[in-house]
Amino acid sequence: VPNVIFALALCRGDSNASACEGCLVTAFQDGQDNCPDSKDTTVYYNGNPCMLRFSNKNFLATTDNDKILVIATFASMEMPLNTSIRHDSFRFLLFTLLNNTAQSAANSSRRFTTSRLDVSSLPTVYCLMQCTPDLTADDCAACFHPYSSLTFKHMDDGKGGQILGTRCSMRYEIYPFFQGKPMLRIINLASAVPAINNTLPPVTVYPHRQSQPQSPVAAPPPPEAQASTQELHGM
Ligand SMILES: *[C@@H]1O[C@H](CO)[C@@H](O)[C@H](O)[C@H]1NC(C)=O
Ligand SMILES: *[C@@H]1O[C@H](CO)[C@@H](O)[C@H](O)[C@H]1NC(C)=O
Ligand SMILES: *[C@@H]1O[C@H](CO)[C@@H](O)[C@H](O)[C@H]1NC(C)=O
Ligand SMILES: *[C@@H]1O[C@H](CO)[C@@H](O)[C@H](O)[C@H]1NC(C)=O
Repeated sequence: VPNVIFALALCRGDSNASACEGCLVTAFQDGQDNCPDSKDTTVYYNGNPCMLRFSNKNFLATTDNDKILVIATFASMEMPLNTSIRHDSFRFLLFTLLNNTAQSAANSSRRFTTSRLDVSSLPTVYCLMQCTPDLTADDCAACFHPYSSLTFKHMDDGKGGQILGTRCSMRYEIYPFFQGKPMLRIINLASAVPAINNTLPPVTVYPHRQSQPQSPVAAPPPPEAQASTQELHGM
């Protein structure tokens, strides 16, 4: 006192100890090199498996999830979502995946879940969600609450992406990207995709996208989504 630094580090739940340590050593250095005049720095990576924040403010006193960064995957491969039916189906299934994965992560002791959704007519979707393990199950679920809406707003085109926050993170892709087998295979269908909220938290989006047409997402699920979702067998 008065020179106090608060810090929070979190490694992705599927990373091993050496990858975690290596990432954090790099992150401490990168944070100082890239933000030399900042007293509140957060480091995220697109590839490396850790997050680091250090600050002169006691941000640990709350469970606020700020410094949210949205990274939309830049895919060279086009998803075959060429009809509106397919697009609606994909949104519906993506919501189902996010909602169930968030619930599972919140309810797990490590606040971490990987998942996979197999649907015959659409690409297999992989998802990973994680909260800092000091959050309660309720706080973790609340942290994920705006993430479905943010996903539909910024990366609903099936190319994947990440929402990174200091308290919870989400990533989905149409290829496997996490270590190990998915901890959750989705079998339940949600009743509907909720409408996008006007009250989303402030986020930084990368890469920047041109203003996109806002299409409603509250439409009832098209029949194709229900029909093509297969009952999955145990892990
Ligand atoms: C840890 O994970 C990294 C990255 O996945 C991998 O290259 C490395 O072999 C792993 N190390 C051990 C000891 O498992
Ligand atoms: C899942 O969706 C339902 C219905 O919209 C919502 O009430 C619930 O809070 C969601 N769960 C999570 C963890 O986001
Ligand atoms: C959460 O976990 C508890 C105990 O592990 C279990 O009884 C409960 O059914 C789970 N709830 C959900 C929504 O998965
Ligand atoms: C949307 O906003 C309402 C009121 O502003 C709030 O009660 C609700 O939880 C929000 N839903 C989401 C998904 O953030």
